[in-house]
Amino acid sequence: MSNRAMIVAASTNDVIGVDGDLPWHLSSDLKRFKKLTMGHHLIMGRKTFDSIGRCLPGRTTVIVTRQPDFVFPGAKVAGSIEAAIELAADDPMPFIVGGAQIYALAMPYVDHIYLTRVYQTIQGDTYLPAIDWEQWEITEAHKATASGTGAVDVEGGVEFSFQDYRRRN
Ligand SMILES: NC(=O)c1ccc[n+]([C@@H]2O[C@H](COP(=O)([O-])OP(=O)(O)OC[C@H]3O[C@@H](n4cnc5c(N)ncnc54)[C@H](OP(=O)(O)O)[C@@H]3O)[C@@H](O)[C@H]2O)c1
Repeated sequence: MSNRAMIVAASTNDVIGVDGDLPWHLSSDLKRFKKLTMGHHLIMGRKTFDSIGRCLPGRTTVIVTRQPDFVFPGAKVAGSIEAAIELAADDPMPFIVGGAQIYALAMPYVDHIYLTRVYQTIQGDTYLPAIDWEQWEITEAHKATASGTGAVDVEGGVEFSFQDYRRRN
């Protein structure tokens, strides 16, 4: 089993993006993202990179694009998900950070999913690719900002929870 992970926030109806951006602003989720990914590679599609607009400090950005001449100072560029994974070969836990196209390509290569489930049914234009949840077991369901297990947290009226999954053997 590899230690490659996917990290994603998705609404109840699996929306992950709208108009090139996240549909919500949850600072607890950003904090969790930072804590989990610090020191690691972030493998992302070019559109997700455009929406972030910079290399996040303390991490190595790997941008997946079909554009052979794409460059961004400080970032690594890969022409396929396999090439991106190869660039992160020395990392004990590289993170696939989206968006939808890159999650779909990376799904066969990941063994951990860090999911933030946002309990809203919302209109969006980008969806989490279909995941066969039978193949995954939850290892932790934890409250976002305080101690507790399996609880739903709330921020700015938005309910959400953090769930860690591991691929079943
Ligand atoms: N909720 C979350 O956790 C989360 C996380 C990340 C992103 N998002 C959201 O997701 C949306 C973006 O997702 P998206 O699916 O539209 O785009 P994306 O996956 O971020 O990037 C798509 C780009 O990746 C490159 N690409 C795709 N397939 C490729 C392949 N086989 N080989 C090489 N390069 C390939 C292409 O870049 P080129 O066009 O340059 O060739 C393509 O345009 C945004 O709304 C963003 O905010 C949400």
